[in-house]
Amino acid sequence: MLETRDLTIRFGGHVAVNSVSCAFAPGTLTAIVGPNGAGKTTYFNLISGQLKATAGTVSLDGQPLSHLSPSARTHAGLGRAFQLTNLFPNLTVLENVRLAVQATRAGAHRHGLNLWSIWSDHKALTERAEQILADVALEPRAHATVASLPHGDQRKLEVALLMALEPKVFMFDEPTAGMHAAEAPVILDLIRKLKQDKTKTILLVEHKMDVVRELADRIIVLHNGTLVADGEPAEVIASPVVQEAYLGIAKEAA
Ligand SMILES: Nc1ncnc2c1ncn2[C@@H]1O[C@H](COP(=O)(O)OP(=O)(O)OP(=O)(O)O)[C@@H](O)[C@H]1O
Ligand SMILES: [Mg+2]
Repeated sequence: MLETRDLTIRFGGHVAVNSVSCAFAPGTLTAIVGPNGAGKTTYFNLISGQLKATAGTVSLDGQPLSHLSPSARTHAGLGRAFQLTNLFPNLTVLENVRLAVQATRAGAHRHGLNLWSIWSDHKALTERAEQILADVALEPRAHATVASLPHGDQRKLEVALLMALEPKVFMFDEPTAGMHAAEAPVILDLIRKLKQDKTKTILLVEHKMDVVRELADRIIVLHNGTLVADGEPAEVIASPVVQEAYLGIAKEAA
């Protein structure tokens, strides 16, 4: 269970996330919606540790994470899509994903150093990386350098790297933003597949209400940094506070 308690951050006088208390259970996909500037991305940054909270706590399975660095939180099982600036731009797509798989597996089990294990590990890592690339439909780009990728493929690679981490908690922040209409279904299929693994906790920030309606088990609404609604999708979408709070989004999706 991922839990935030009274999570708050101020930027100067502006409270971007205001005392948000919420728990996210394994096997649940929670959509986080709200107007532009509501604090959705900031909330993710507080959970992943990219931003330091002014007040409040984050915990995973009862373990406090608030004092941990972003990489320590990743190690604890929090998966946030990578910023591509963290990658090796002159290595290929496959090499980058293989390194991410390797980093994850190295944490899981260490072998003594012998030629057989190096060779068999290398083969297993490559196969796993290739599988992940197939899952996000990036196989045709496997041997392209990251620096050469068009935007849509960069977004797919971000998701591929998240998969490679095998986290307990997946945080997707508008995963299909900037993709061509033809590319988005691959990512949405992948999230759909992830949902079938009932041990995963999935958080999805998404403006497209048709996507939210289809994928979400639960919707929470942020408005001016405050949690204003939380519940079953149909119920939340119909609630007056939501209709009022983000009429703009409803129009956009229509
Ligand atoms: N590093 C920062 N310094 C100062 N203000 C910030 C910073 N990051 C975010 N903010 C402010 O916090 C508020 C919430 O921003 P945030 O990006 O979390 O919104 P959002 O809900 O993700 O919006 P969108 O739907 O447009 O992505 C905004 O008013 C934003 O300007
Ligand atoms: Mg945002």
